[in-house]
Amino acid sequence: MKSLLSLVLLSSLAAVSAVQQPLQPPNHEAPIRTSPQPLVDSEKLQAHIHADNLLKRAKELYKIAQLGVEEYHHPTRVIGSNGHRGTLDYLYSTLSEYSDYYDISNQTFDAIVGNVFGSRLIFGSSQMSAAPMSLTPPTPGKEPVYGPLVLVDNEGCDPSDYPKNTTGSVSLIRRGICSFGAKSEAAGRAGAIAAVVYNNYPGSLSGTLESPSKYHVATFGLSNEDAQPYIKDLQAGKIIPSYAWIDSIVRKTGTTNIIAQTKGGDQDNCVMAGGHSDSVSEGPGINDDGTGSLTLLEIATHLPKYSVENCVRLAWWAGEEEGLLGSDYYVSQLSPEENMKIRLFMDYDMMASPNYAYQVYDARNERNPNGSQELRDLYTDFYTAHGLNYTYIPFDGRSDYDAFIKHGIPGGGIATGAEGIKTRAEVAMFGGTAGQWYDPCYHQLCDDVSNCNLTAWELNTKLVAHSIATYALSFDGFPKRTGIKSDSAVEDSPYHGPDLFM
Ligand SMILES: *[C@@H]1O[C@H](CO)[C@@H](O)[C@H](O)[C@H]1NC(C)=O
Ligand SMILES: *[C@@H]1O[C@H](CO)[C@@H](O)[C@H](O)[C@H]1NC(C)=O
Ligand SMILES: *[C@@H]1O[C@H](CO)[C@@H](O)[C@H](O)[C@H]1NC(C)=O
Ligand SMILES: *[C@@H]1O[C@H](CO)[C@@H](O)[C@H](O)[C@H]1NC(C)=O
Ligand SMILES: *[C@@H]1O[C@H](CO)[C@@H](O)[C@H](O)[C@H]1NC(C)=O
Ligand SMILES: [Zn+2]
Repeated sequence: MKSLLSLVLLSSLAAVSAVQQPLQPPNHEAPIRTSPQPLVDSEKLQAHIHADNLLKRAKELYKIAQLGVEEYHHPTRVIGSNGHRGTLDYLYSTLSEYSDYYDISNQTFDAIVGNVFGSRLIFGSSQMSAAPMSLTPPTPGKEPVYGPLVLVDNEGCDPSDYPKNTTGSVSLIRRGICSFGAKSEAAGRAGAIAAVVYNNYPGSLSGTLESPSKYHVATFGLSNEDAQPYIKDLQAGKIIPSYAWIDSIVRKTGTTNIIAQTKGGDQDNCVMAGGHSDSVSEGPGINDDGTGSLTLLEIATHLPKYSVENCVRLAWWAGEEEGLLGSDYYVSQLSPEENMKIRLFMDYDMMASPNYAYQVYDARNERNPNGSQELRDLYTDFYTAHGLNYTYIPFDGRSDYDAFIKHGIPGGGIATGAEGIKTRAEVAMFGGTAGQWYDPCYHQLCDDVSNCNLTAWELNTKLVAHSIATYALSFDGFPKRTGIKSDSAVEDSPYHGPDLFM
């Protein structure tokens, strides 16, 4: 699940000319139905799902996340890390055991990764609670820099906003008008050694510099409240010595989506499901989204016991946490013909939050591609049939379904909750603790094996199996695809707003 903060324009970076390995469309002259396997059946597929097997995979994934320790000092599966490479190897090699049944492909694209290992900002003798921006470069040599604080005129978007004595100084810049990246670049060009952008309304400020520039300097965000006293002093002509330090990396890395598609079934009518293979840099990401990835992997190992009427295409996206990079890239590379073969896309992100709710994306046909609502109802019917409660959550572009529904493909999915707070009413519905996050370890180091509720995970994995089996068997009554543009108005999601980069 994307965090609100990092849901930025980074998706555009995925388009940075890719070292692309084109997806090989599977070779299929005639539908392959020579196999002796019985036709897929939802109940039978579900019966293969056991919490023990999921737990075993989660433990394996945690070990893989530990491959990230050397570089990141803690377990992580962030793109570009050995933990993520290990995850891809694990997914790919497990799928390869079924290479008679699936066509398996890699889709590699470029992405920018960044990580901040440490930072400090001091004005005068006060340590500031300032947030280093995402994708900020380090201070030179990852060593501290010292210089006077200099107030920049206007919003620091124009070279003339920077006083002559900016050279060798730390620039203090008001938020607004142009992007954080543009401010950092302008400060760097004017000779600043670091930049601090302060908020133009109450509250703290964190953001991203987006795509790297050689002129970027180490850049922080600061709240308006914290900046005001210093602005007053600077306006009164006071000299404020300052100290800035950021230890970070920013680099371009190739990363990979893995796609497995059944050789059997109608290749022109596919049911597609995906989870994301990456985590944030802060932790191992076992619930987010180890659970979705492993749910699909576990099902992928049982599906080959059956034949399918419609093709099943499974995806493990990379770079979800950096801005839905992998899924955006994948959809951007589909020809109109290939796009039309995907009858629906189902997103599985965070299946086992410890303080879980059974959440169903509130996808509606009036707003989303026709069929999204039928999928939503498949999920809610399942929970109802099992005597369980569920809640609807906004279908607002926060995970990998976004590119699909924007390109005319019906979509939906389930989740169990991220940093939202569980209400008392939800405790009556699901148990757990009121007033706490659904996942108290969301995007943190503690998102490890113990952060997964196996009751929720097993039940949801059975539901995922049900969704795959249902559409693998038949699309009867499911709306036909009509076009590759979303015919319905998609509201602007809060995750693509300008707030995060300006
Ligand atoms: C696809 O990627 C996986 C994971 O990185 C790798 O192990 C495998 O060798 C790759 N396969 C091909 C055909 O490139
Ligand atoms: C930099 O120059 C501005 C005027 O352009 C002045 O107000 C400010 O005090 C100077 N700052 C330092 C640290 O010299
Ligand atoms: C569903 O929620 C209601 C309260 O809204 C509660 O009484 C009931 O026990 C819940 N069902 C389950 C299976 O938890
Ligand atoms: C998972 O949730 C169930 C039911 O809500 C609860 O009984 C169980 O203790 C939880 N398991 C863990 C490992 O937290
Ligand atoms: C949606 O699909 C249903 C069932 O196929 C069909 O009856 C309906 O006309 C479709 N609606 C739109 C807006 O295309
Ligand atoms: Zn996620």
